[in-house]
Amino acid sequence: MKDANFSKKILCIGAGYVGGPTMAVIAAKCPQYKVTVVDINAARIDAWNSDKLPIYEPGLLDVVKQARGRNLFFSTDVDEAIREAEIIFVSVNTPTKSFGEGAGKAADLQYWELTARNIVRVSQSDKIIIEKSTLPVRTAEAMSRILNANEKGIRFEVLSNPEFLAEGTAVADLENPDRVLIGSQLTAEGIKARDAVVEIYANWIPKERILTSNVWSSELSKLVANAFLAQRISSINSISALCEKTEANVSEVSRAIGMDSRIGNKFLSSSVGFGGSCFQKDILNLVYICQSWGLTEVADYWEQVISMNEYQKRRFVQNMVKVMFNTVAGKRIALFGFAFKADTGDTRESPAISVAKQLLEEHSKVVITDPQALDNAKIDLADYADKLEFIPDPYEAAKGAHAIAVMTEWKEYKTLDYKRIFSDMERPSFIFDGRNVLDHKALFDLGFNVFPLGQPFHKHF
Ligand SMILES: NC(=O)c1ccc[n+]([C@@H]2O[C@H](COP(=O)([O-])OP(=O)(O)OC[C@H]3O[C@@H](n4cnc5c(N)ncnc54)[C@H](O)[C@@H]3O)[C@@H](O)[C@H]2O)c1
Repeated sequence: MKDANFSKKILCIGAGYVGGPTMAVIAAKCPQYKVTVVDINAARIDAWNSDKLPIYEPGLLDVVKQARGRNLFFSTDVDEAIREAEIIFVSVNTPTKSFGEGAGKAADLQYWELTARNIVRVSQSDKIIIEKSTLPVRTAEAMSRILNANEKGIRFEVLSNPEFLAEGTAVADLENPDRVLIGSQLTAEGIKARDAVVEIYANWIPKERILTSNVWSSELSKLVANAFLAQRISSINSISALCEKTEANVSEVSRAIGMDSRIGNKFLSSSVGFGGSCFQKDILNLVYICQSWGLTEVADYWEQVISMNEYQKRRFVQNMVKVMFNTVAGKRIALFGFAFKADTGDTRESPAISVAKQLLEEHSKVVITDPQALDNAKIDLADYADKLEFIPDPYEAAKGAHAIAVMTEWKEYKTLDYKRIFSDMERPSFIFDGRNVLDHKALFDLGFNVFPLGQPFHKHF
């Protein structure tokens, strides 16, 4: 189709875990729009233009192939793409600030602000700018000031449209979201811009699931959604520690409380801890915002969610050391999984990073296996490269090991031939199930000493 025939020209700045899948689904669902995704990282753009996408996400390649070259384009020509777009989503990274005021808590907005300044510099017409990145509440105000302080007479309307997709199920989440949230100013211009964005999503999402709100509620809702999700994990993980002391079983407790419709049954599985690029950074950001408004009690309350997660990661390794006769020095330990969750290659803030480092401090020989995340694992642990092995095949990884620790709930780990694995391991052989996904009784019957989380241990000694 010729450019002039597209009914809207949409741009997304930032071709990461959010920008790539979100725009691929918009393009696939709306062939009448031209959708361009740009990034300053040329290798990433090359990968989006190939059949080896830069991120692993089930079903994503099919969606990309459906639209790429038709109405979906990946490019590094940021300026040209800005000039021609009417609607610009910005999904650049907003990591935790590592320097200066607010270091370790506040969001680092430098990538966002650079993007905003670039938009002002090259734009020649009015545009709608959409915060897709997760940002502190009231960022749109600052961005609007920067964007509208131009002397070209161009007007920018800043909206918030946070992304609620979960990695590993991104395509399904985008195709069939629980809700889409669009926050705008409640002025005539704000509402007009909001309606233009509602129109995009209404191509495939029922209107009743497209929520609108004021811009601050929208920004804050994203932080609060992640805080509540992470809080549930920390809550059940705190109970897993108590279960281990009392012989209660955390899975039975989860089932019993999850059937209460007021509580609900999702996000109640105990694990070695939550990871991913968002939960920790977004809670820290919430904590920082509360502190800066003088809401110390509120900040402290949410900070506990992070403390509990750190405790769970530490506790997992401390337990390994204790049951393996108080030393893991020189012992080969295979980590099954390194991604922060199944069905992604993403390892950002993965609990496996912390577990691997703690085991290395204990002088273990750590072997890492994962079906999708080994490249990222090598980058995360580059400083320890000479002390580690990365082995794609789990059977090879477990050979000669004293222990296996399940770090990621990959489906394939449930169906491995553990009899074969057991025969190749050192004795006594240990399994620490950091995701409670294996058949513990069957493993015990094969001869393993099995240590789930928050459940009675199965040991032969
Ligand atoms: N990953 C998730 O599951 C998820 C879910 C919801 C929201 N978010 C939020 O979305 C945002 C992006 O997250 P992500 O996981 O996609 O990050 P990411 O790091 O995978 O991608 C960000 C991309 O932005 C690019 N970029 C940075 N500055 C740029 C610039 N000036 N011009 C062009 N490109 C630039 C980077 O090169 C990178 O490829 C973050 O704010 C995050 O909190 C993430």
